Amino acid sequence: AKMASLGEMAGSIAHEINNPLAIINFKTDMIRNRVAEGSIEPVQIESALMDIKNTAKRIAKIVKGLRHFSRNSDGDPMEIVPFNKILEETVQLCDQRFRNSGIGLHVNYSRDDVIECRPIQISQILMNLLNNAFDAVSSMEERWVKVDIAADEHSLKIRVIDSGHGIPVGIVDKLMEPFFTTKDVGQGTGLGLSISNGVAMAHRGRIAYELYKGNTSFILDLPKKQHPVHIQSA
Ligand SMILES: Nc1ncnc2c1ncn2[C@@H]1O[C@H](COP(=O)(O)OP(=O)(O)O)[C@@H](O)[C@H]1O
Ligand SMILES: [Mg+2]
Repeated sequence: AKMASLGEMAGSIAHEINNPLAIINFKTDMIRNRVAEGSIEPVQIESALMDIKNTAKRIAKIVKGLRHFSRNSDGDPMEIVPFNKILEETVQLCDQRFRNSGIGLHVNYSRDDVIECRPIQISQILMNLLNNAFDAVSSMEERWVKVDIAADEHSLKIRVIDSGHGIPVGIVDKLMEPFFTTKDVGQGTGLGLSISNGVAMAHRGRIAYELYKGNTSFILDLPKKQHPVHIQSA
């Protein structure tokens, strides 16, 4: 399961890193050319170097996020963390890819819920849902993905909605099956949803598909707290 979700991740992360690398290459060449021509002022060099520095920092962040994913988190302890932190770190990993493809990614969240979970695993689920939404809309004319979060005292409902208009019934029935994919070989593993649902269930939650105001949506339902460990008396 670990390798499969890594495979899911690898393609999208490569995109995320390629873009800032291209910026660094471009800026470096630009400075060198203009220094050779003698047509650049120190302030302009300074400004271009700042861009390079910030872009390098972006790559560093992505790599840091990647390190999260590359180790097995099954045995991680449950932690109590602000949900916002998980959400931000996840969006950070795919933001650029959405922007490059002209897909609006709108995250609607201003609450301050805390949640008891294995943060890396929740991040993996969100990443899978966002990647699926990305794939679903990338060839459409109207392209957007929204993340909406509703909460009550006991649970969070994280909804990933895309500009698609729902999934045909025959496919809906198989969504959660391991290895079920409608994508080309090399594009999809068919493991994203089944692994994600397994992880959600290990958190006493679940993932469900639902048509939402005429659009495709997936809900990740998570309790805010895990069961306390009851000590059995003999
Ligand atoms: N947002 C979505 N819109 C349309 N179809 C989807 C969406 N999410 C998942 N699916 C369908 O569910 C299938 C299984 O998804 P998943 O388990 O993540 O595997 P994979 O993405 O590798 O195909 C996809 O191939 C696709 O047919
Ligand atoms: Mg998938």
